[in-house]
Amino acid sequence: MATGTHLSSAFPLGSRVNERGRLEVGGCDTIELAREFGTPAYVVAEDDLRARAQAFVQAGREAGQEDFHVLFASKAFPCTAVLSLFAQEGLWCDVASGGELHLALNAGFAPERIVMHGNAKSGAELRMALAHGVGLIVVDNLDEIERLASLVAERGGGEGAGRASEQAVLVRVTPDVRGETHEKISTGQADSKFGFALAQAGEAIARVHDAEGLSLRGLHAHVGSQLLTLEPFERAAAELAQLGDFPVWDLGGGLGVRYTESQPEPPSIEEYVATVVAAAHAHGTGRERRLLIEPGRALCANACVTLYEVQSVKQNVSRWVAVDGGMSDNLRPMLYGAPYEAQVADRFPVPGRCGGTTACVLAGKHCESGDVIVRHALLDDPRPGDVIVTPATGAYGYAMANNYNGVPRAPVVFCREGDARVVVRRERYEDLTARDVR
Ligand code: LLP
Repeated sequence: MATGTHLSSAFPLGSRVNERGRLEVGGCDTIELAREFGTPAYVVAEDDLRARAQAFVQAGREAGQEDFHVLFASKAFPCTAVLSLFAQEGLWCDVASGGELHLALNAGFAPERIVMHGNAKSGAELRMALAHGVGLIVVDNLDEIERLASLVAERGGGEGAGRASEQAVLVRVTPDVRGETHEKISTGQADSKFGFALAQAGEAIARVHDAEGLSLRGLHAHVGSQLLTLEPFERAAAELAQLGDFPVWDLGGGLGVRYTESQPEPPSIEEYVATVVAAAHAHGTGRERRLLIEPGRALCANACVTLYEVQSVKQNVSRWVAVDGGMSDNLRPMLYGAPYEAQVADRFPVPGRCGGTTACVLAGKHCESGDVIVRHALLDDPRPGDVIVTPATGAYGYAMANNYNGVPRAPVVFCREGDARVVVRRERYEDLTARDVR
């Protein structure tokens, strides 16, 4: 790194500003990446993903929980390359639809390491989960318990031969704990569309007990997402403990990450894992029990940056810097008012030269005024043709990408030790018409 050049910790591990003042991710020069692969592009530091996966696993070991498994919440970055990397690192996988199940199987997760979620699983999705023999199905409502039991009965001993005749399930509980986060990604409150309220969990547990073909293993709770304090996880564990003694607990995901320098520091992976393990122990699930967690964002958000190219710069009340992407590759600012940082990829502030001094609005290319990526960006004299980089776009960026305005979705490029490879190609205009039926 050019001496003293400050890089916000929102950037992928191992990122640096090279001698030419350009950002490098995974050892690759981002200006060259933009030239080679085009913009917009999701650029992922492969080693960052691995390091975070290893940190989670190691933290579980250090916390003294033997039967501890880290499930990647595949919704955060649902692409084969990311899923296979996590499968290689020994993680398990959380899926919330037939499509995510398809991706997880295709990426090489053993079915018994897959946990199936969903508040509105269809018959077809449940059949698919049963046919592949997923490890656990997390039941969300009474209708599902009934439906699942009859599908297991339908499967009988014949077709499912070789598989356990009973399907292992967890009951999803909303522990009535509110973590401090955006309302749209808060799930633990009593009036949630997910799972059973505490008062109804007893009935759900009894129904699963009574249902032939279902084997109740334990409880699941997910308090919310982008949580920057750990105490909601502790409170959730205390609430679950009221419901009885079970061999498996799944405490969901939710650990927050750093999007900008100015936001509060998130707890570390180690602190988070130590806290959930301790909370599980304190509330009665012993060390011999199985403890699952389902991080999504904390595994992949900071591993990725998005590269854009400036198309135009105009000044009215504000200075508008318009780039070639926006809400089609990152819906989070639009949906949650989520904050991001941005820099010109080859003019990072270096000692002796103060960069980043022009106050700008970094705007997307889509036909909506709300399509703004960074409302208050400080960029170093941005001009058309400049490459702009926004860090921390690995979670729920690609995942929520869309074709608004007929914009083809951006590629995913993995970078490691100076080598770059495309793992998801850019969509082409023909992809936009590929499903037409004539
Ligand atoms: N487990 C369950 C059951 C979940 O519903 C979620 C996220 C996770 C795990 C992973 O949560 P994480 O560790 O990533 O916070 N689109 C939103 C996030 C929605 C999260 C939905 N559920 C965003 O961009 O912030």
